[in-house]
Amino acid sequence: MPPPLPLPLLSARLSLAPDGTPVSDIYGDIYHSAAGGHAQALHVFLAGNGLPERWRGGDSLVILETGFGLGVNFLATWLAWRNDARRCRTLRFISLEKHPFAADDLAIAHAIWPEFAELSALLRTRWPKLVAGEHRIELEGGGIDLRLVFGDATETLPRLDGAVDAFYLDGFSPAKNPDLWSPAICQNLARLAGPNATLATWSVAGGVRRALSAAGFAVEKRTGFAGKRQMLVGRHA
Ligand SMILES: C[S@@+](CC[C@H](N)C(=O)[O-])C[C@H]1O[C@@H](n2cnc3c(N)ncnc32)[C@H](O)[C@@H]1O
Repeated sequence: MPPPLPLPLLSARLSLAPDGTPVSDIYGDIYHSAAGGHAQALHVFLAGNGLPERWRGGDSLVILETGFGLGVNFLATWLAWRNDARRCRTLRFISLEKHPFAADDLAIAHAIWPEFAELSALLRTRWPKLVAGEHRIELEGGGIDLRLVFGDATETLPRLDGAVDAFYLDGFSPAKNPDLWSPAICQNLARLAGPNATLATWSVAGGVRRALSAAGFAVEKRTGFAGKRQMLVGRHA
């Protein structure tokens, strides 16, 4: 019998809010802070997880992200790693995405960040077909190991294994995208947490804090990005 055909996905379509911020027609929410996607990635997701310091001098570091979206967090992380003379040998970046963009849309969206131009082009030449499943992309001669897991995280996350060092929790707002912040998702993140695993997210919603705490993460608030009063960081106990 032939192998089953890969499941097609409902891909995302690039739309812009009046101020130019990318917005999802499916979820009715923005992809990143209107104050800047790259700067938000550095403040919330990298600094919130103690990066780049934590990868320095090590062999490898594993990041897991909920919601690849436009890949801004990935590009910001890759660029910080690339520019760091003390980077770890291999950066493994696993990212879950239910509604991936086509490469042409990524090119349009990434054009506002000239600092990403080279990395965006490299990523897009390797961009997979938009079909459900895991797509592995090796970049920088294997120094960057990107695993894109296309499909609904409620189904794909329970099937992952391994030990994650840093979680980037970047779904749309919990009110509009509750699936990606559910207690079951948080329990699965905890299952994948390696020793001293950390997390960071811009959301401080009570339900998110409770679900993460119940899953074994000690969470605390920090100053948010660009006028947002707070964001959340956490450590797996
Ligand atoms: C705020 S955006 C992520 C932005 C992204 N991290 C970046 O750097 O560009 C949230 C993403 O979560 C994805 N998403 C929402 N629900 C999901 C689910 N159940 N499983 C996987 N991805 C999901 C959306 O399609 C969207 O791309």
